[in-house]
Amino acid sequence: MVDVEQFNPRNEAALRAWWEVGHAATSYRPGKPWPLWEQSRVALPAHNPERGITLIGAIDGREMVGAGLLIRPLKENLHTATAFAYVRPDRTREGIGRRLATELEVVAGGDGRTTLQSEAYLPPDGSGGASEAFAAAMGYAVASRESIKELTLADYVARRNDLAASAPVPDGYRIVTFDTVCPDEHLDSYGRLLGMLLDEVPLGDLDLTDSEWDGARIREAEQRLTEIGRHMHTALAIAPDGSVAGVSDVRIDDDDPAYGQVGITLVDPAHRGHRLGLVLKLATHDVAVATYPSLVSVDTSNAEVNTWMNAVNEALGYRTIETLLELQKRL
Ligand SMILES: CC(C)(COP(=O)(O)OP(=O)(O)OC[C@H]1O[C@@H](n2cnc3c(N)ncnc32)[C@H](O)[C@@H]1OP(=O)(O)O)[C@@H](O)C(=O)NCCC(=O)NCCS
Repeated sequence: MVDVEQFNPRNEAALRAWWEVGHAATSYRPGKPWPLWEQSRVALPAHNPERGITLIGAIDGREMVGAGLLIRPLKENLHTATAFAYVRPDRTREGIGRRLATELEVVAGGDGRTTLQSEAYLPPDGSGGASEAFAAAMGYAVASRESIKELTLADYVARRNDLAASAPVPDGYRIVTFDTVCPDEHLDSYGRLLGMLLDEVPLGDLDLTDSEWDGARIREAEQRLTEIGRHMHTALAIAPDGSVAGVSDVRIDDDDPAYGQVGITLVDPAHRGHRLGLVLKLATHDVAVATYPSLVSVDTSNAEVNTWMNAVNEALGYRTIETLLELQKRL
């Protein structure tokens, strides 16, 4: 008899059991599909002004055999939530995934969320596998196809100098880098650019609306990152008039300095066509290489239709390791 129960992320024994299930369920995937225990132990119980999380476990006797996660945005897109289900590989096809997905829908619906989003992962060259079949069985539609890409630092270092020579900082612009905390003088303009993100990134059919980032919201988000030991190494392109024309970042946790993740890359449409995307990514990757001698790889994901971003990533040496299906279901 399997029970599905919510638990408090501050319950460390339950959190550890939950983490073990997710770790086992994702270990077939390439790259770094699951955080280290120390990263989850620190990040999941920490206060997060941007997102509320609900953790659930499927418990058989005294063992956790399934793990569920619901993420609810708290500042905008209040009609949405993102649901994830993981089942221990020796306990799949017993209906545990379905129980978790159903419970996550109940929690989301109880919080007024009407659109659920999720993810499924496929080998880069096609379809197949449990997560796609499970998503279809749970009534999710594919809203967007993305590629998950990985860059090994050795590949980057081999290409870096030629790339930098081919993409100088354009005349009149300058690049400013910072670790997590944006300098005061760029804060408002950086917020204006962040607010454009969801309009500018290809979202397929994902039902997401734009966000507004004032200085107070940015500072709150930065404070959380600092508290959990996550470094957002950010590069800003400053236009001749002093405004922020572009941004890119690489995130690296104190608890796992071997792997980084690209967060946002965005160039204001008014400043496109100067190779600022590549210039910004070179800046953040250079900072990452210089700061973390133990860095092995960095990963990123972007829509398959995002031709321009794909070209930049290919030039840097990123290789596709998986296809990511962005899923959506209306409750
Ligand atoms: C995807 C996953 C959660 C499914 O868990 P599960 O407990 O095996 O799922 P269920 O037994 O409840 O299956 C529900 C339905 O999904 C479909 N399904 C699940 N796994 C399938 C598979 N390997 N092949 C075909 N259909 C599958 C079936 O329609 C199944 O119903 P049925 O058994 O009555 O035919 C599990 O395989 C897993 O943890 N995978 C790794 C993590 C992941 O990819 N999660 C999904 C993204 S959040």
